[in-house]
Amino acid sequence: MLTNDILDRWDREHFFHPSTHLGQFARGEAPNRIVTGAEGCHIVDRDGNRLLDAFAGLYCVNVGYGRQEIAEAIAAQARQLAYYHAYVGHGTEASITLAHMVLERAPAHMGKVYFGLGGSDANETNIKLVWYYNNVLGRPEKKKIISRWRGYHGSGLITGSLTGLKLFHAKFDLPLDRIVHTEAPYYLRRPDPSMSEEAFATWCADQLDALIEAEGPETVAAFIGEPVLGTGGIVPPPASYWEKIQAVLRRHDVLLIADEVVTGFGRLGTMMGSEHYGLKPDLITIAKGLTSAYAPLSGSIVSKDMYEVLMRGTDEFGPIGHGWTYSAHPVGAAAGVANLELIDRLGLVANAGEVGPYLTRGLAEALAGHPHVAEVRGAGLLSAVELMADPGARRFFEASDKVGARIVAEMAARGVIARAMPEGDIIGYAPPFCLTRDEADTIVAATRDAVEAVLPAKATV
Ligand SMILES: Cc1ncc(COP(=O)(O)O)c(C=O)c1O
Repeated sequence: MLTNDILDRWDREHFFHPSTHLGQFARGEAPNRIVTGAEGCHIVDRDGNRLLDAFAGLYCVNVGYGRQEIAEAIAAQARQLAYYHAYVGHGTEASITLAHMVLERAPAHMGKVYFGLGGSDANETNIKLVWYYNNVLGRPEKKKIISRWRGYHGSGLITGSLTGLKLFHAKFDLPLDRIVHTEAPYYLRRPDPSMSEEAFATWCADQLDALIEAEGPETVAAFIGEPVLGTGGIVPPPASYWEKIQAVLRRHDVLLIADEVVTGFGRLGTMMGSEHYGLKPDLITIAKGLTSAYAPLSGSIVSKDMYEVLMRGTDEFGPIGHGWTYSAHPVGAAAGVANLELIDRLGLVANAGEVGPYLTRGLAEALAGHPHVAEVRGAGLLSAVELMADPGARRFFEASDKVGARIVAEMAARGVIARAMPEGDIIGYAPPFCLTRDEADTIVAATRDAVEAVLPAKATV
């Protein structure tokens, strides 16, 4: 067995970590954590720490850690058939079964699923399909994609462009052409504090309408959005938002891509976020919850209507020139089948819908009256606590104060992992669906104590 010292040195010297301060990490100024095991909602590291993972990895280990049923399914698939490709009509029992199971859980107007590996590549697929679709329909100029500020759709070239967070654009020369951003449905940060939720939703829809008019409706192909903003701050939409946005899209013949990488397969307490908010998307992006991250797998669910057009395209132009070596990888597909069966068998969607609001309520009660807590919000098993220097005046802390990151570090010292969301001082929660009420109470207590440690309420009143 390697000692921590050797692993630590190799980690600093050889491992290029994503989303990490590279210089600080290499110099040993930023901490590392070497994770060795996990069970249920807890992970264990090599230093013997056991932490309650209130973010389910990167909101993906939805069924919780250590599920032997999924591990066995993966092992059995690898033994029987570790790989075969999906090109020119090839499939495996696992990939075909999973396609069927996904469609059983998707809105009724959806028709097919294309499998990829992660959320980013699934969104790349979606954008290519949208462009192909409009070429088949003979409207080659209708190609722009509208995304939202604070949306998160991946970190590839197109998907990083769709993502509406500055950190993912700056110094990478993104966004690329054809990608434009509209307002985030972020009620707490609405331009006029006197606006009701409905009025703010109308304002967001009007902004979208004006943007489409300014760009030229004949050039705008699709709108992409997460049912609930995720990495941009865990922000549920204001009442009537999706209804109003969809009316604008219909008016301008603009497709809707629902990015359900986080919300798909139960996180909101409903099987899909589209069902939760009454969305009628043309494409749905799925990833994380499809396999609960036991193996990498993603998907683009395509509506029946859109697929008709794609078929016409191949009749005219030949087989579709799109695919990855690992599309529909059978090991990932076997994990997906076992995962979706487990979610059903254990009633985990219902539990997410029950324990999620319990967690959000607990956070709200524990932090009520704290002078720096601007909002506690949530939808299903997604919660967030937003902190400000002066919530009444909507004055933010300086980014250099790193308030969110410091609170999350204090929580980790108390045995709970939450996530400091990248823009603003926002603590994010997205635990596994098997979270119990006792575990939710532990998360609440760690949050209350960590907020108090970083921002003592008494010192500021
Ligand atoms: C809504 C959403 N879309 C897409 C992605 C990108 O997925 P991946 O990191 O698997 O490429 C993420 C990742 O967090 C996401 O939250």
